[in-house]
Amino acid sequence: MTLRLYIPIDAGALAVGAEEVAATLRAAAAQHKVAVDIVRNGSRGLYWLEPLVEVETPAGRIAYGPIEPGDADGLFAAILGNGTHPLRLGPTEHIPWLKRQTRLTFARCGIVDPRSLDDYRAHGGYAGLERALAVGPEAIVEEIAQSGLRGRGGAGFPTGIKWRTVAQTQNAQKYIVCNADEGDSGTFADRMVMEGDPFVLIEGMTIAGIAVGASKGYVYIRSEYPHAVATMEAAIAAARRGGFLGKRVASSSFAFDMEVRVGAGAYVCGEETSLLDSLEGKRGQVRAKPPLPAHKGLFGRPTVINNVLSFATAPMIMEKGSAFYRDFGMGKSRGTMPIQLAGNIKYGGLFETAFGVTLGELVDDVGGGTRSGRPVRAVQVGGPLGAYFPRALFDTPFDYEAFTARDGLIGHGGIVVFDDTVNMAKQARFALEFCAIESCGKCTPCRIGSARGVETVDRIVRGHDRAANIAVLEDLCSTMKFGSLCALGGFTPYPVMSALTHFPEDFGAQPRQPRLQAAE
Ligand SMILES: Cc1cc2nc3c(=O)[nH]c(=O)nc-3n(C[C@H](O)[C@H](O)[C@H](O)COP(=O)(O)O)c2cc1C
Ligand code: SF4
Repeated sequence: MTLRLYIPIDAGALAVGAEEVAATLRAAAAQHKVAVDIVRNGSRGLYWLEPLVEVETPAGRIAYGPIEPGDADGLFAAILGNGTHPLRLGPTEHIPWLKRQTRLTFARCGIVDPRSLDDYRAHGGYAGLERALAVGPEAIVEEIAQSGLRGRGGAGFPTGIKWRTVAQTQNAQKYIVCNADEGDSGTFADRMVMEGDPFVLIEGMTIAGIAVGASKGYVYIRSEYPHAVATMEAAIAAARRGGFLGKRVASSSFAFDMEVRVGAGAYVCGEETSLLDSLEGKRGQVRAKPPLPAHKGLFGRPTVINNVLSFATAPMIMEKGSAFYRDFGMGKSRGTMPIQLAGNIKYGGLFETAFGVTLGELVDDVGGGTRSGRPVRAVQVGGPLGAYFPRALFDTPFDYEAFTARDGLIGHGGIVVFDDTVNMAKQARFALEFCAIESCGKCTPCRIGSARGVETVDRIVRGHDRAANIAVLEDLCSTMKFGSLCALGGFTPYPVMSALTHFPEDFGAQPRQPRLQAAE
């Protein structure tokens, strides 16, 4: 009998020794003359337990973790014996952190072999495409629109409306572009999908291609994700071999093929028009809108550009129907959100749940507070352009509109936790410095404003004419917010002003009401 083990090949697991663990377990199996099949799966997203080793048993998979290479011999002996081991976590699916999630987009991540098309199909893969082919382009667009799915890259724009616009734009050549630049701090969900369940992204992009009449797709992946690039390329080749990409997708009359493109590492190349410039081989610079990419995108052709998670959710919606997805969530935030818990947090990782859970539940209850054990002082939600929320705002539900109402954003679903040793004036300065470094330089409020902002925060912290300089900072933020061409300059005021509003003591000032108007 062959013993089957699962050891993640996810970059987060590799970073803490998963490769060495796999090698030592393989050696231990050879020594005990036991036939072993080690499947290199994606991560389950419980990062504090990585490397997480799972053993297939008649009663389901049993998890052990975190396993270090030195634990491998003892673990192997336990596996051959009665399974007792200090790092035994029990049946994987019963681990409370995993059990309380609603995994729709991440349903297969950590379960399947990411390089096996057969395994993907054995776990329900390509059922969404099958239905898409049966109902045809117009019904696909309608299903996605009805599901309430909103773009998971940050702006939260309704995916169905975007697809409908491209579908209705006449052109002999259209494109599907996947934004896998994932530049937001504390985010890794796109990477996890590409490394753990790449076929779901391929299937989602294929469905989009059929819906809008596009025969070619590109996945634009940041260069810092070499494992994701390799896995995506292997999966694309396998899908092509299996007849799921090419001139006749799944033996239908639809043609769709795709390839990977690797970015060069600029945050602004995550902005969709910059990304298109970069894909065309130019320096990534933001384009003025209109025209929208949906009308005139890649190489001037109508283009659907969506985030990895948006595409990866489409197959499930097509398979289970829009009503199934729409039933989860609150208000105008329908379905589930793969939330990423990071920074100074005890239980960091990927937590997919329906919209509506509060920030406090996520940080204190799910995340277990800080890793340092000190009190949580602030959390930044939505990447480097997201606001800092103090504990007083922890009752905010995870919902696009609720965050906007409190001058914040949920962005790509990243939450970065800070304990009480953080200096919020330094964080405000960092936001402006980041903007100055990453600015594409096209518009003045961002290019110049960010640099002047850094100098102004420095003057405030030095105590130089504090009141006047705070007023200058507020004016500067207002100009950046309302005068910038894209959200890099336009949203940098969120971390700056939230730090100033909620943590004025770090700026040496008494609590006060800044003049920046509420978000529109
Ligand atoms: C500076 C900047 C960086 C961005 N980075 C990303 C990114 O890394 N990934 C992403 O999907 N969207 C990013 N976006 C949002 C994209 O412009 C765009 O809204 C998104 O790709 C659309 O896909 P969606 O509708 O599926 O969210 C960024 C926007 C800005 C302004
Ligand atoms: S806001 Fe900044 S990044 Fe965006 S277009 Fe203007 S200069 Fe470029």
